[in-house]
Amino acid sequence: MSGLLFEVDRGMNGLRWSAVRKGSERLLRVASTYGLQGVTEGLAGMDEPFSRKLGAVEEGLEKLTAGGDLASAAARHLVMAGGKRIRPTVCMLAARSLDPEAPNDWTRSVAIAAEAVHGSTLLHDDVIDEAGMRRGRVAARLVFGNAASILGGDLLMIQALGLVEETGLPGLVGSLVEVMVRMISAEALQLEQRGQTNVCREDYFSVVEGKTASLFEWAARAGALTAVGRWAEQVERLGEYGHELGVAFQVRDDLLDLTGDPDVFGKSVVSCLREGVVTYPLLVALESDPDLGRLLEKSLQGSGPPGGELALRVREVAEASGGLDLAVKEIRERTERALDALRGLPESEARGALESVALALAKRVS
Ligand code: IPE
Ligand code: IPE
Ligand code: MG
Ligand code: MG
Repeated sequence: MSGLLFEVDRGMNGLRWSAVRKGSERLLRVASTYGLQGVTEGLAGMDEPFSRKLGAVEEGLEKLTAGGDLASAAARHLVMAGGKRIRPTVCMLAARSLDPEAPNDWTRSVAIAAEAVHGSTLLHDDVIDEAGMRRGRVAARLVFGNAASILGGDLLMIQALGLVEETGLPGLVGSLVEVMVRMISAEALQLEQRGQTNVCREDYFSVVEGKTASLFEWAARAGALTAVGRWAEQVERLGEYGHELGVAFQVRDDLLDLTGDPDVFGKSVVSCLREGVVTYPLLVALESDPDLGRLLEKSLQGSGPPGGELALRVREVAEASGGLDLAVKEIRERTERALDALRGLPESEARGALESVALALAKRVS
């Protein structure tokens, strides 16, 4: 696979070569760091202009955080730590799936904006969750402080709006503002329910749809809207793909919080217990074992069993109650729905790559 990407590189020269190399290097890094071979395989089928535009997203992100102030430094710390760049990838593939000339400059701008909004929420989220580790590195808030981290998040969010505004595409700024409001409301509901052990499924999915799926959906939809000649129904389908992919992605994240390896995952595990946030497998475990809820409440008040013992117990109950299996089932069903949404689109390399992305994310370990 890497051979294929390097062959593409060898055929290029000068500036063009280095731009392509940047996009390809990014893909190779994503595959090796995050174990997302499926994503890279899907993208390996894409042509050189596509790879070049992926490289341009990296350059755009670097530019957003190039300032000499503390807000830029905190944002740069996060952005340069990498990340899977799934949202801009989906955005660009959505555009290409409807337009052989895409990604164009509009697509590039909305792809950077999608990743910038994501980065912004991560900077804020690590302050809210008092997290120590992000993208395999010490969280920006521990390096630059909570205040700088919040300013860095604000900077990225406002720059995202600026980039979308510059495209001049009608309705896109409004739709991104709507997504931001949804993300904030979902985070607020999660905050309100912190420490509660009787969270219902409806509230759980409403949080997931707001905090994660809404941005995935926007990335796909906005990418589609930058495609010349797209039809409204195709944009809807890509939006639905993004939405279902986003829900699957968050449930997978919840599962990895209980079963993942922190060195591979790039962030702490069993953070649900420390943060008092109910994840999907935990929700099922709590429904099946009322004693577990009492134990968690005690632990949040500082009088429960030691952390390691509690984590072990939660993992046991999550497994025995079928919580882990149900999470896997939910991921599978959502992935299937995402793939279904793609079926009405014309067949293309990009559509195939979107399928590969969904299948790879359903099994991701980081
Ligand atoms: C982490 O998102 C936050 C969630 C929505 C679960 P990602 O897993 O996409 O984070 P990076 O960008 O790869 O670090
Ligand atoms: C991350 O949420 C931020 C958003 C999805 C808006 P979480 O708190 O659930 O995710 P991690 O585990 O910190 O990445
Ligand atoms: Mg959080
Ligand atoms: Mg968090």
